[in-house]
This record gives sequence, structure tokens and C-alpha cells, in this order.
Amino acid sequence: MQVTFSKAAMPKSGAIIVPCMEGSIASAAFKAINKTTKGALERAAKASGFQGKKGQITVIVGPAGVSNGHVVLIGAGKPKDFTALEAENLGGSAMAKAIALHEKAVLFAMDGLKAGDLGDGAAAHMAFGARLRGYRFDQYRTAQEKNEKMLVSKIGIYDAGAGSKAAYNDLEALAEGIVITRDLVSEPPNVLYPESFAERCRELESLGVKVKILGEKEMSKLGMGSLLGVGQGSVRESKMVAMEWRGGAKSDDTVCLVGKGVTFDTGGISLKPPAGMEDMKWDMGGAGAVTGAMAAIAGRKANANVIGVIGLVENMPDGNAQRPGDVVKSMSGKTIEVINTDAEGRLVLADALWWAQETYKPKVVIDLATLTGAILVSLAHEFGGLFSNNDELADNLIKAGKSSGDKLWHMPLTKTHYDMIKSPIADIKNIGGRWGGSSTAAAFLGHFIKDGVEWAHLDIAGMAWNEKDKATCPKGGAGYGVRLLDNFVRDQFESEASDE
Ligand code: BES
Ligand code: MN
Ligand code: ZN
Repeated sequence: MQVTFSKAAMPKSGAIIVPCMEGSIASAAFKAINKTTKGALERAAKASGFQGKKGQITVIVGPAGVSNGHVVLIGAGKPKDFTALEAENLGGSAMAKAIALHEKAVLFAMDGLKAGDLGDGAAAHMAFGARLRGYRFDQYRTAQEKNEKMLVSKIGIYDAGAGSKAAYNDLEALAEGIVITRDLVSEPPNVLYPESFAERCRELESLGVKVKILGEKEMSKLGMGSLLGVGQGSVRESKMVAMEWRGGAKSDDTVCLVGKGVTFDTGGISLKPPAGMEDMKWDMGGAGAVTGAMAAIAGRKANANVIGVIGLVENMPDGNAQRPGDVVKSMSGKTIEVINTDAEGRLVLADALWWAQETYKPKVVIDLATLTGAILVSLAHEFGGLFSNNDELADNLIKAGKSSGDKLWHMPLTKTHYDMIKSPIADIKNIGGRWGGSSTAAAFLGHFIKDGVEWAHLDIAGMAWNEKDKATCPKGGAGYGVRLLDNFVRDQFESEASDE
């Protein structure tokens, strides 16, 4: 998708988007287009009751003098409520409309829009929202009806303030990162498996990221019996990938982002029921988010030291698969009784977390995982579940969640949850009882966090996949977590506050 900022006259074809603030819909752009169309905008607004309220849309088809396509009035709501996220939603809605109208270009008429405190940011965030909504994953469709095809290939911003292009630049890196995550999450599991996923990570080298890949032999030497046990039923070799971005000073703290990358989760011998099992292709959503976040962080040359670590395995039933009842030894030395082979994500993370801490000595570790169905029972598709050993870290992540739109909810993790996973024959077991499944999963991970390390676990099982179209995200891979992590790194590791 091409995004351009221009001072030239607006083209006469395409979807010409006129954003309108409630209370004063007539921006300079509105007035100019209204004039060339001999009052068509004013008449259409009046006839349709358009007042610039948030979500209102009025489409004018091919008015004389301006468009061979469509002029679209979109309500932005009141200037005081017009945040960056609202601007993105508007841009996304405009894109959705343009796609539905089979247009080839979305052109925003920004001149004179009084966008509250957003200023030049308004155009930048509209372009960003449009770009995110304009995402499609259709490379495996060889035949599409004409009206199914996505024709939009251009986003044009006309007559926005001088600073809007610069404001868009960092967002462009973020969009690239989100697209990487969506692509990874959407790929079918015969295409995306541990080895091919690791190869995709290599592509981040072009952004200056150092990529290290461990195979089974290396992991076995390091004693990663927990991760390797999960992959042992698969013909695909398990992998561990580290993506290193050192944009900060040598003396700056390091943050590790650790992701669950189960490229397909059948449940293993504790086999899942068939209905809906295809969803388990996106059981690598945590690893996908970490990879996309690393691309965004490196893409905007963030002034911080960030390391992404992902554990990649396929969880299959097989003659060689691990059994319920097996006891495995993790790299940390702790032994684990595997009661249920479908509680595999935590087994993968146990070794990924430990290896990340041993290798990179981070101050902060944040893991992301599509870890439990139970988090969907608690939080539906509204929030990621946040578990932490540090309230300040938790609060900072919640803040980054609010500003990014990737919302988080703080969930409990207490001694009781740790007690629930004690095993009679090993140090711990990999499931608790029937209740509080997300918290016992978090407690399991907590066993693999070293003393003094600030840690947060984000259970994103309800967030990695979008069940229906949203303003800035079509149905499918959501890219949840990329922006959250990018905002968090920006706020906590690049601001002056982190120099204390
Ligand atoms: N990958 C699943 C969790 C999941 C469920 C993700 C639904 C996305 C949507 C995970 O590996 C799993 O199977 N968890 C089990 C744990 C149980 C066996 C303790 C679950 O949640 O049922
Ligand atoms: Mn599972
Ligand atoms: Zn899983």
C-alpha cells in the first residue's frame, strides 16, 4: 500500500474522503469541494442528516466537477474527543468504505480540518488507520470474483499540515511490524513451521537486527528438556530464535520479549477435539507479536536495547510424542511432570524464558503467549490478561495498552496459584486444577523467572485473532501486542525517566 502526502490539487477520481468535525463540518477542503460540486456536499449532508458525529458516513456518487468516483463525508465527532486512536478508526472506516465501493485510491482532504489537540498528527494517524484496515492476506486465493477483490493500492493525504509526513514516519515502521505479525499468524501451518518461521525472522537482519537460531542439537546441549519434549512428536525440527536490537547505550538496561511459538497445537497425545482445531495455527501469536514488535522497534531505530526470543515447536501426537505422566527436566534444572500434553505453551516458555535470562541478563522480561482458553472465559476478546511480579511494571504496561489500543487487564497471581501446581513426583506439574487456569499457567511460568527480574506475562489467547472486522483491522490475524510493546519500549526505555 502506497502512502503519499501531497500539496497538489486533489485528483478527480478515487474515494475522496472529507473528514468533518461535529459542530463545524465545513473545513476549507469541504468548502472548496462543495464549491466545485455546486453545493453537492451541503445538499448531501442536509438530506442525510450528516452532522459530523462520530461514525456518520455520507457517500456522494460522482458529483459534477470533482470525482469520477465518490466523495465520502466522514464524521470525526467533537474536536475535544478526537484522539490519535479516533483518527485511526476514522482512517480505517474510510478505507473499509473505499474497498466496498471498489475504489483504487483513498484520498483524504485534510485542508483546514480543526482536529483538536491532534494537529498534524490527525492526518498521520488517519493514514496509519487506513493502511492497517487495507491489509489483506489473500495470496493463496487463485480465483476471486471482481467484487471480492481488493483494488485499493493508494492512500493519499492532501493539504495536511507540514509536520504530518514526519509524524507518519514512525507509524510506518509500526505498520510494517503489525503486518509482519498478521502475516505470520495467518500463514497455514504446512507453510509456517519452526524452521520456516525462523527463516522469516532472518529477514529482520535487513533492519539491523542480529538473528540467532538454535536447533535441537544446541538446545539439547543446553538442557532444554521442557521445550524439546513438546516438539518430540513432530517431524519438524524445533527451533529457538533470538532477535537482538541494541539501539541503546551499552550501559542501558535490556528488556527481553519472549514469545510462545507453537506453529500448530493439536494438543499432542492429550488430543484436542477436531472442531475448530484449525485455529491452532495461530498458537504462535505470541512469537508473531514479538517478531513484529522487533521489526517495528528496529524499523524506527529505537534508542533502546531490546531482545526478542521465541520458542518454536509443533505439538503433534505420534509414536514418539511425549506422554501424559512423563517427567522432563528444564534448562533451569527444575523437573516437570507433564499431566496434560495440551498445556504445552508453558513448557516451551519455561526454557525460552530461562535461556533469555541466562544469555541476556535483562532487567525486564515480558512474555506473550496464546496460553489458555481460560483467559477467553475471563476477558473475551476485549483484553489481554496481564500477570506480573511487579506492580509498577504492570501499571506501565496497562498504560501502554491504553495508548496503543492493545488493552490489558491485570489478573491475579498469588501463592495459592503456585501451590496449585505442586507435583507429588517432580518439582512442579504442568496443570493446576479445574479453576483459575490462566493464573496457574502464569504461576508455572513464574517458576522460571530469576530473582530480581521484573517480569510480566501477557496471555493473548483472546486477542491474536480477530473474529470480525474492526475499524483498523480486518477479520483474521490481529497483530495484537506489536504496538503495545513498541509503546512500552518508547515510554519506559527511551524516555528520560529511564535514565534515573
Ligand atoms: N493454545 C492453547 C490455548 C488456546 C485456546 C489458545 C484457545 C487460543 C484459543 C493451549 O496450548 C492449551 O491447549 N491450553 C489448554 C490448557 C489446559 C490443558 C490446562 C486449555 O486452555 O484448554
Ligand atoms: Mn495446547
Ligand atoms: Zn497451545
